Amino acid sequence: MTNGLVSERAWTILEKLADGKFHSGEDLAKEFKITRASIFEDINKLGESGIEIQRIRGRGYRLLHTWDQLSKKEITKILGKNHSQFNLEILNQANSSNTVLLQRAALGALSGSVVAVELQTAGKGRLGRRWHSGLGTCLTFSMLWRFDCGLNELSGISLAVGVGILRVMKKLGAQEIKLKWPNDIQTEEGKLGGVLIESQGDMLGPATVVIGIGLNYFLPQKITSKIEQPATSLSEVLHEVPSRNLVLAMLICEMSAILEKYCEKGFTILQKEWEENHAFQNKKIKFQLPDGKIVQGIALGVNEFGALRMQTEQGECIFNSGEVGGLR
Ligand code: BTN
Repeated sequence: MTNGLVSERAWTILEKLADGKFHSGEDLAKEFKITRASIFEDINKLGESGIEIQRIRGRGYRLLHTWDQLSKKEITKILGKNHSQFNLEILNQANSSNTVLLQRAALGALSGSVVAVELQTAGKGRLGRRWHSGLGTCLTFSMLWRFDCGLNELSGISLAVGVGILRVMKKLGAQEIKLKWPNDIQTEEGKLGGVLIESQGDMLGPATVVIGIGLNYFLPQKITSKIEQPATSLSEVLHEVPSRNLVLAMLICEMSAILEKYCEKGFTILQKEWEENHAFQNKKIKFQLPDGKIVQGIALGVNEFGALRMQTEQGECIFNSGEVGGLR
């Protein structure tokens, strides 16, 4: 096992257990033509990757939480005639969908390529943090977009992506969702989703951007215990949780629409919508700069480049990187 990834054989056993029923060690051994000891070993490896499997003497093994599996066929069907614009790949497991897609980008992957991962074992978050998720607990995927313009014109892209996710959440009925600068998706209860943007290219163009999105579906204690801030999930926000296939298809469509608009007009056309959904608009916040220094003031909103505007004792300040915290 490397970096929490399980072997192909263990994954095949996992797929057998995906029906949520008990399967005896003997039956599994017969089916996969390996010994019961090997089955036991693979089940242990799955457990080490955070996949909870119940073991009852005389009955066998059972997956404790079945998951809503992603299906390329289903997503393609939902995307309809738009599907050919996107090169969709679903991986059983990977350390990070962003890392995989950055590698594909370097090999020439097309704009609109999407990599979604069922089990992400070393998800990356903003500011060097980790993004924690388990099998089916989160929608974890990345989208590649190529721009003719340079990186210097893309400063608002991460906020634009936040607006895209927010629109999808609202279409699904989650009206209380707000944005925290630059692009955290959150409710009063905590963070629902996050975005990590990684880019390659020149300041003057062209540029390639990998947009990684993590959206919590449900949060078992095993995951919340690792997350260092209040977090929430779609199962807490919505009465009826939509299928991961539907949400992924909706996000892909909205993302591509918003990125196309961004290419034409920049962030300016989304500035008002971002501020209308800003969790701390005209509220007191503290802002942590990359060097750790804390600035306090009133969040005034964002400028046309996506930078945070803050009223401080020294007057209005503009910040391009750092972390917002609320002051209540
Ligand atoms: C954040 O810190 O808020 C950003 C979290 C981004 C997580 C997603 S999950 C899919 C993609 N792959 C990664 O490794 N990270 C992003």
